[in-house]
Amino acid sequence: MKLLDTINKDNLPKHLAIIMDGNGRWAKQKGLLRAFGHENGTKSVRVTVEACAKLGIENLTLYAFSTENWKRPKLEVDTLMKLLISSLKNELETLQKNNIRLNCIGTIDLLPAKAKTELLAVMEKTKNNSRMTLTLALSYGSREELLNAVKIISNKVKNNIISIDSLDESIINQHLYTHNLPDVDLVIRTSGEHRISNFLLWQIAYAEFYFTDVLWPDFKEDDLYEAIISYQKRERRFGKTSEQIK
Ligand code: FPP
Repeated sequence: MKLLDTINKDNLPKHLAIIMDGNGRWAKQKGLLRAFGHENGTKSVRVTVEACAKLGIENLTLYAFSTENWKRPKLEVDTLMKLLISSLKNELETLQKNNIRLNCIGTIDLLPAKAKTELLAVMEKTKNNSRMTLTLALSYGSREELLNAVKIISNKVKNNIISIDSLDESIINQHLYTHNLPDVDLVIRTSGEHRISNFLLWQIAYAEFYFTDVLWPDFKEDDLYEAIISYQKRERRFGKTSEQIK
């Protein structure tokens, strides 16, 4: 029996977030430059995006570039930006064919102009697609996102647009980059690292975690299915008792 056939389509994560890690180690193991790891990582991006759309996952968020990644050697940052631009150009057709809307979170003003323009163009062209929302976290950091929300909310309080008494979780949600996305149900991190690395800290409050030793360029459909099967075996209690859930 195929792994795919054992997945319950009625209990899929509504929002799957992936920390794609291990591109560098994958390349090193093969005696190749880190850039090859990233290049092969884009193949796993395509496989995963298509598999999620076919499965019926409504929201997929990929951690493609963190605020901290700007500190990497310039050559590597340039490689990642070039890969982003070429992927956006090459994958527009796949996004349209699969009815996928492209979205992004992060301080995209920091991206090279060409990358930002291409990103906004693909987002515009796919804005009416409705099968799945693919969100790329680019120049993204969760603390920066929260700080940004605090600044906007503080200004609104100062200008009497929002009262302090009316502040609640939904107001914070509305001021995050993810305001149009549901909370994360499942986080997958590849490459054997067990860290969250400043990713969606607010949004993962009740998420399940799945860690695999597979390096991102080796991550294929069956690895995704294994993660979802593991998720479906968990009992999500959201603070309640097991009896209350049943
Ligand atoms: C982590 O591997 C991966 C990244 C920092 C970038 C992820 C980018 C891609 C998969 C390719 C481009 C993406 C898109 C959406 C076009 P690492 O370099 O930290 O690996 P290491 O920990 O083994 O060094």
